[in-house]
Amino acid sequence: GGLVDLAHVNSVRDIFALNAADIGDARSKADAVEEEEEERELISDAFRSTALVSSREQYEAMYRRSVEDPDGFWADIASSFYWKTKWETKDGKIHSENIDVRKGRVAIEWFKGGQTNICYNALDRHVKAGLGDKIAFFWEGNDPGLDDKLTYTQLLERVCQLANYLRDQGVKKGDAVAIYMPMLVELPIAMLACARIGAVHSVVFGGFSAEALSQRILDCRPNIVLTTSGVRRGAKVIKLKEIVDEALECVLREGFAVGTCLTYANDSAIQREDTPWQKGRDIWWQDVVPKYPKDCAVEWMDAEDTLFLLYTSGSTGKPKGVLHTTGGYMVYTATTFKYAFDYHDNDIYWCTADCGWITGHSYLTYGPLLNGASVVVFEGVPNYPDAGRCWEIVDKYKVSIFYTAPTAIRSLMRSGDEPVKQHSRKSLRVLGSVGEPINPSAWRWYYDVVGDGHCPISDTWWQTETGGFMITPLPGGWPLKPGSATLPFFGVQPAIVDENGHEISGKCSGYLCIKAAWPGMMRTLQGDHARYETTYFAPFKGFYFSGDGCRRDGDGYYWLTGRVDDVINVSGHRIGTAEVESALVSHPQCAEAAVVGFDHEIKGQGIYAFITLLEGVEYSQQLRASLINAVRIQIGAFAAPDKIHWAPGLPKTRSGKIMRRILRKIAANQLDELGDISTLADPSVVAQLIDLRDV
Ligand code: WTA
Repeated sequence: GGLVDLAHVNSVRDIFALNAADIGDARSKADAVEEEEEERELISDAFRSTALVSSREQYEAMYRRSVEDPDGFWADIASSFYWKTKWETKDGKIHSENIDVRKGRVAIEWFKGGQTNICYNALDRHVKAGLGDKIAFFWEGNDPGLDDKLTYTQLLERVCQLANYLRDQGVKKGDAVAIYMPMLVELPIAMLACARIGAVHSVVFGGFSAEALSQRILDCRPNIVLTTSGVRRGAKVIKLKEIVDEALECVLREGFAVGTCLTYANDSAIQREDTPWQKGRDIWWQDVVPKYPKDCAVEWMDAEDTLFLLYTSGSTGKPKGVLHTTGGYMVYTATTFKYAFDYHDNDIYWCTADCGWITGHSYLTYGPLLNGASVVVFEGVPNYPDAGRCWEIVDKYKVSIFYTAPTAIRSLMRSGDEPVKQHSRKSLRVLGSVGEPINPSAWRWYYDVVGDGHCPISDTWWQTETGGFMITPLPGGWPLKPGSATLPFFGVQPAIVDENGHEISGKCSGYLCIKAAWPGMMRTLQGDHARYETTYFAPFKGFYFSGDGCRRDGDGYYWLTGRVDDVINVSGHRIGTAEVESALVSHPQCAEAAVVGFDHEIKGQGIYAFITLLEGVEYSQQLRASLINAVRIQIGAFAAPDKIHWAPGLPKTRSGKIMRRILRKIAANQLDELGDISTLADPSVVAQLIDLRDV
């Protein structure tokens, strides 16, 4: 591969369609939190006495080595895993990287030549070490009273049976397997079974629509899809198999046929006879998988062989298949899990994320199991049947590490302190937050009320693309500040960069980039290395660009301020504005759509859609509902716009570009901050838009 064609990519503005005003916005947002900065939360001596990292000095020493000698640092850690064959070392180096597009193809390798298997390291290794009887998964059903548990030995057996079945179906190393399942233990079992035989899993979140699922299937072309008849989430029943059937019909129309649809019968949600069925293609999991042997030979994988694909939204175009490989991801997720949660062998860990997102991959499945942890897997939602459910579960399993998203915290906070205080929560030791910036008031409530003022909060900043934590507290290591992810993890070298691509130092704010590769970093985008380079490495040459804005304070702490591109973060779910727009304009009566985010009290951000209609079509509440429905059908209910704003015209420059800055201000109701509108082709559309706000 040669150089990326950079002729058309001169600056970040070209890619993200940013303009000076938007950059100013990101800056002022960053400065607004400045006042909070002096508030500190010290970690108690009692906590520090057992912490893995108990001072900033200890961290600084480890961190220094991790950036001065990354190869030595990571080789030492990697040695505690099982490698069938050790990695190659060239001039003392175990990794190679080029992240600078000016120097040629972007390429990253860690532990190349080393042969291992992540499933073996997550399960067999612990069983062989005598931990077979330890609980791997506590499963808690949607409805209180329905639960189950699996020891490491039992989990290994279940994984082997499915792995044997998949092999028997002809699934080989490198083949893709699509997984569309709810939070039953069978979902992580499916991921681990794929990993065991070298198949590439592609988990699609169960909230995505048939159409979105079919897109992902068409991109990775699996011969087998694993699913479930249905699931109960809160009071709702979701018939997943029906959605899969619709998706498979879609892909068939595109000329691609999936051979087998292995379906787990979830009788607590829907009866088998009520599940749509296509003879020959569909098979009940329970009818075949338990017949297979409980041991299964491992496929030894090169460290750089693909482990999984996970689709995520970007600022433009279709979702991208982020590709992670085996060795670096394994070492990185395990190490970040251990340090960021101060994991000890007797901890009980609960992560509320769904395996359909990266958090469920790295910190519900691989990271904790690689550490031999006992993990709670919860099928339901945090506020069902009532707002005390989470704390009931914490008490039931004596959860000591609890990891969730700010959106859940804010929604529970709204129900007040009482549902929390009705439960003891005395097992809790460490709390975690992920997915979006946590506002200081939610942080405070989480710390004071949920954690009774004695549990450090790990506010972990990272991304699907980074594989694991990038900026995060190490509990016990240093004082916390509400709303700050604090300091970089070992081996992570953040750079705050200005709009001209120059790194700025000290106390400052700008674009968050990373200066060098780390083991857990994605290696490419499925089938589109050029897009990988233009999206992440071309905007700021010599750096990996995160898409986030960030501020660094005088203590070197990092404060994430949200996306600076056209990605919206709704309840911690990443949604591309372009995807929502494309769903809206697919509606036969919609002419144009422009989607922006706006601050939302619970969800963090909400989706605000501006639309124009075809000539002669009149806007109505019915049309509004059917526009929203178009998004539900193409993406999923979680991406449904909160607000549809109809207008006869949208603000455009003379060259026809929609001015999103103005739309963002209107969505935020900051009408006195519209700025200069004189460059618009037709400035009168702005007044018209404002008039039509509440139609
Ligand atoms: C946002 C989720 C602030 C950020 C793991 C990032 C955060 C995007 C945090 C990635 C945090 C995630 N503080 N913002 N602690 N964690 N984000 O790929 O904008 O679903 O770029 O990965 O979520 O979302 P993704």
